[in-house]
Amino acid sequence: MMTAERIVIQGTDAPLRGQVAISGSKNAALPIMAASLLSEDPLNLNNVPDLNDTRVMVDLLRDLGVQLVLAEPQEGEIALSLTSPQTTLNPEVPIEAARKMRASVIVLGPLLARMGRATVPLPGGCPIGARPLDVHEDVLVALGATITYHNHAIHAYCEEGLKGATHRLRVPSVGATENGMMAAVLAKGTSVFHNVAREPEIVDLAHCLNAMGADIQGAGTDTMIIHGVPRLHGATHTIIPDRIEAMTYLIAAALTRGDITLTGANKDHMQGEINCLHAMGFDVQAVNGKTLLLNAAGAQPKPAHLVTAPYPGFPTDIQAQMMVLMTSIAGESRITETIFENRFQHVAPLNAMGAHITQQGETCTIQGGFPLRGADVEATDLRASSSLVLAGLVAQGTTTVGGLHHLYRGYVHLPEKLRACGAKVARLP
Ligand code: EPZ
Repeated sequence: MMTAERIVIQGTDAPLRGQVAISGSKNAALPIMAASLLSEDPLNLNNVPDLNDTRVMVDLLRDLGVQLVLAEPQEGEIALSLTSPQTTLNPEVPIEAARKMRASVIVLGPLLARMGRATVPLPGGCPIGARPLDVHEDVLVALGATITYHNHAIHAYCEEGLKGATHRLRVPSVGATENGMMAAVLAKGTSVFHNVAREPEIVDLAHCLNAMGADIQGAGTDTMIIHGVPRLHGATHTIIPDRIEAMTYLIAAALTRGDITLTGANKDHMQGEINCLHAMGFDVQAVNGKTLLLNAAGAQPKPAHLVTAPYPGFPTDIQAQMMVLMTSIAGESRITETIFENRFQHVAPLNAMGAHITQQGETCTIQGGFPLRGADVEATDLRASSSLVLAGLVAQGTTTVGGLHHLYRGYVHLPEKLRACGAKVARLP
């Protein structure tokens, strides 16, 4: 949903100091909400982040006939009870739902498994890349589905029921892995999927599906074995913390040379990224697996050369935020983006703020150490929006950020959480 609202940030030299509670993971919650389509018993979910994207998924599932009870146990969090009676399910996703959120394609696998057919309008244009669906199609066809494209929608059907299969994904696509998992759990026989995505969000989906009676082994590795079962039952599941949100705040603390405590995080989900910060001179301490401390006062930061890669490599969803940190470190840093073909749209506004970033193909070179200055900038995609807010924290003068519908898709109360650590951030209606 577009919004004319802007965020206003007064840049200061003041380091961020304080505590941030990490919300549930958007990228775990969306597929797990879709998993409710697989069972007619209630699936109860806790720690779902209250975001535009999860609210869109709530509306989408209701349009599909899911009976859904929503509670708000605390600010920024929703609890859901989702029930999908066979009698009320409708296998066609409405156009407007698919337009609002690309991730709506994630209902394709569970709808096909439960109903024998599914129609999802092709997701809206995406600023970070073409984002084709061939890998989704390949895995569902391997399980016996017929896929056609017409009327700007993807149609999947398999009247006689899906059958287990052995299949290698062309690329370890997160969404295609999730669609394949949710289709295979009710297929007849065993599936073996090779070159699957290994993200913590994939593991959380597997945990939830197994709690519902599925039989999935190997989640988190590059090969998954799924023994199909006749039906799934209800379960209660708590969504894992959002590792991308957590890293965004660790980077904000490093950028301002601050001292921040994250609560409710999961260190094991972000070891690679923490190692990157360590190599750059920022030490992250873990009080236990869930509380992380970063005290960057007195750090002697060093430039870095990073390449994004599928998990457990350096996540593409942190690339924009890391680039802002690199502008604050004297010397030459580099970032190579290997996952999406157009995910450097934050470079132009950062350069407008005085950064020295040049792009050669899929690699950006950052000459760090030049002070940023406030500017009026527009966000282009979700993670770019958070990087522009971070840049405003240290830019001299005032920065305003527009295009906030991108930000509110994926961050719970980002301005408020930064303000609680001393940032001068406000929303302009
Ligand atoms: C998920 O998107 C995340 N979204 C993205 O996070 C994340 O950036 C991405 O995984 C990579 O980690 C959710 O989980 C809701 P992919 P997804 O399929 O599943 C290509 C955020 O900021 N590809 O793993 O759409 C694709 O073009 C969002 O929270 C094909 O070629 O990503 C891309 O280059 C942004 N054909 C690469 O694979 C396909 O059929 C990775 O895409 C599918 C994907």
